[in-house]
Amino acid sequence: MHLVIISGAARPQPRSNTARIIAAFRQGYEEKGNSAEVWYLSDRRQWQDAKTAFEKNEQILFALPLYVENIPGIMLEFLEQLQPKTIPGTHIAFLLQGGFPEASQSRCCEEYLETLPAQLGCEYAGTLIKGDMFGVSLMGEKTGAKMVAPFAEMGRYFAENGYFDKEKVSSFAAPEYMSDKQIRNFRRFGPVQKLFMNRIAKKLGCKERLDAKPYGTAL
Ligand SMILES: Cc1cc2nc3c(=O)[nH]c(=O)nc-3n(C[C@H](O)[C@H](O)[C@H](O)COP(=O)(O)O)c2cc1C
Repeated sequence: MHLVIISGAARPQPRSNTARIIAAFRQGYEEKGNSAEVWYLSDRRQWQDAKTAFEKNEQILFALPLYVENIPGIMLEFLEQLQPKTIPGTHIAFLLQGGFPEASQSRCCEEYLETLPAQLGCEYAGTLIKGDMFGVSLMGEKTGAKMVAPFAEMGRYFAENGYFDKEKVSSFAAPEYMSDKQIRNFRRFGPVQKLFMNRIAKKLGCKERLDAKPYGTAL
């Protein structure tokens, strides 16, 4: 079976967590003789090929990061340009990953994604959800590889089934909500995390503190 994977991430491929997750998923998917092609919407030069691939193929997977509880703007723009299919038989699945650990963060976006395939004349083939992916590209090669490794197993699963079953997805996506103990630990390590996040922000070119309030004095 041939799968068209379209990355809806805005971050360019070499720095995108979605890209690394796709690579692991694809490896598992292709293990048993299946094939896949990947298009990155962060590169506008790939949009036409991605559109053609969508039109000509029947198995589509959109992989995307959660951006402010929903889908990235560039992916929305791309979807708006697609012509709904008139011949039935195309299935669209989604791989949705985010920074917060709780799967519940992604449920609103999942509900939205469920509505999209029908609008494009296609059938819905499920949404794979995973949180806690913020550090994939920031934690170094070895840790990043360990974080995305479980997606290879899901690639194998998708190759066998052709859809993401809701129950299977929920166990992969766990925790739905963090436990009280996890929240207490989170709070305990809050100051250390703040320091860590400030360091990452600096590395990414941020010149202000993360808790800066530039408009605070105007109130
Ligand atoms: C503008 C922006 C908004 C984000 N909003 C959310 C969010 O609402 N919930 C969440 O869990 N993660 C959020 N994240 C974290 C990303 O989903 C996460 O880091 C993801 O792995 C980034 O993938 P990428 O490197 O392919 O862009 C956000 C990140 C950015 C840059």
